[in-house]
Amino acid sequence: MNKLIVNADITKGIIDRNLYGHFAEHLGRCIYEGIWVGHDSPIPNVDGMRTDVIEALRALDIPVLRWPGGCFADAYLWKDGIGPYEQRKRMINIHWGGVVENNHFGTHEFLQFCELIGAEPYIAGNVGSGTVREMAEWVEYMTFDGESPMTDWRKANGREEPWKLKYFGVGNENWGCGGNMRPEYYADLYRHYASYVRDYGPEKVYKIACGPNSDNYEWTDVLMRQAGTMFDGLSLHYYTLPTNSWVGSKGSSTEFDEHMWFKTLKNTLYMEELIVRHDAVMSKYDPEKRVALIVDEWGTWYDVEPGTNPGFLYQQNTQRDALVAAINLNIFHQHNDRVKMANIAQLVNVLQAVILTEGGRMLLTPTYHILHMYKVHQDAERLDTVLESSAYEMEGESIDQISASASRDAEGRIHLSLCNLHHADATELRCDLRGSAASIISGTIIQADTLQAHNTFTEPERVTPAEFTAFRREEDQWVITLPAASVVTLRLQEQG
Ligand code: AHR
Repeated sequence: MNKLIVNADITKGIIDRNLYGHFAEHLGRCIYEGIWVGHDSPIPNVDGMRTDVIEALRALDIPVLRWPGGCFADAYLWKDGIGPYEQRKRMINIHWGGVVENNHFGTHEFLQFCELIGAEPYIAGNVGSGTVREMAEWVEYMTFDGESPMTDWRKANGREEPWKLKYFGVGNENWGCGGNMRPEYYADLYRHYASYVRDYGPEKVYKIACGPNSDNYEWTDVLMRQAGTMFDGLSLHYYTLPTNSWVGSKGSSTEFDEHMWFKTLKNTLYMEELIVRHDAVMSKYDPEKRVALIVDEWGTWYDVEPGTNPGFLYQQNTQRDALVAAINLNIFHQHNDRVKMANIAQLVNVLQAVILTEGGRMLLTPTYHILHMYKVHQDAERLDTVLESSAYEMEGESIDQISASASRDAEGRIHLSLCNLHHADATELRCDLRGSAASIISGTIIQADTLQAHNTFTEPERVTPAEFTAFRREEDQWVITLPAASVVTLRLQEQG
């Protein structure tokens, strides 16, 4: 039996819209091809950035976009990516396939792209191989309005007004690709670099320190102890792998059975434990939760599609990814007191992308549709829920069959998001809405005829959202029939 009590008169704080953030790295075909096609491309574009992608992303109401990496960030020299295109340096992308990076997509292009899609920029600075001065000058170049060499340079490059830049990351994965540092050493470097990330505009720069790799609680402890008063956010990276290992095959994005399905969802649910335990460590130093946990890389990571460059991390996206996205978002909502931003990896053509492109063609993945369905929760008030879920069992392991979240938006509408994790069994969920006289007025579902169903360039609409009507009123409860392997969002409103 599945039962969900929604206490509409007990609110649990705002679901920060930044939980719906994205991440775009100079990796594979994310920036080049996925976003940037150049001014002379036959693909319709706005100043070199593809129009179809801009329009699709605008519809998601993306609050914040992280760039330029990822591992790339700690190899990136921003001065190589400004000024006339023909003078921009060509460099090797050492982390991702060793391909030539021509620097045509740089600071100006990224910040314009953010304006075009309506997202706030979140820039990750280079600690691994860049200097304190380079980082300081980048912030000055982007945000200072007075007289200075950096401001003059920006103006000479065509941008009179400074940009508004709120979010700045001081390094990325400095425990790994960003320098293989120990936490004590990085904490000192953080203090040093961050001291030169100055506030030039009226708004304070929100500084994000490199946080732990999944369950490295010691990293969190050292960072909070040694530098916790100097940052606003601490990042967390956790990817869902269908296997439990980074060594060898991670499994195919499209060829998997129900055992792999179960494992993938179980591994997704591990995000909950990570947040709870990192939060507990952070609370030792910051019980008021001033410092946010920023999950600025999350999503699925499979083997690359056969025949594609292993360094490009290009993977397909099935109904399984739809469930992974929805479960993660429900977990982030649940921990909205500590988790204030999350950035799915990555925007286009890389890992759990919302968009795939092939030449001039573009398709929306099942993950895109989840983010579209769920955007109603952005900046809404989370409502208290009590969930009793049946067990979903596989080979002696057990997880909850249901994942759920509820919120009320500024117009007073209530939205419920419900996932049925079971690969084969439909189920009924009895929903008891307390403290409100609202009724379900509409629903949307994403489901598929097979677990492996995905959109391709020949069949781009195989997995798309549809109207959902399988709900009825029984006495004082709503009875909702959730098909196997589905995600549903429901809108409730008071009548009259
Ligand atoms: O998203 C791909 C890579 O995963 C990023 O560059 C890095 O930060 C992480 O290891």
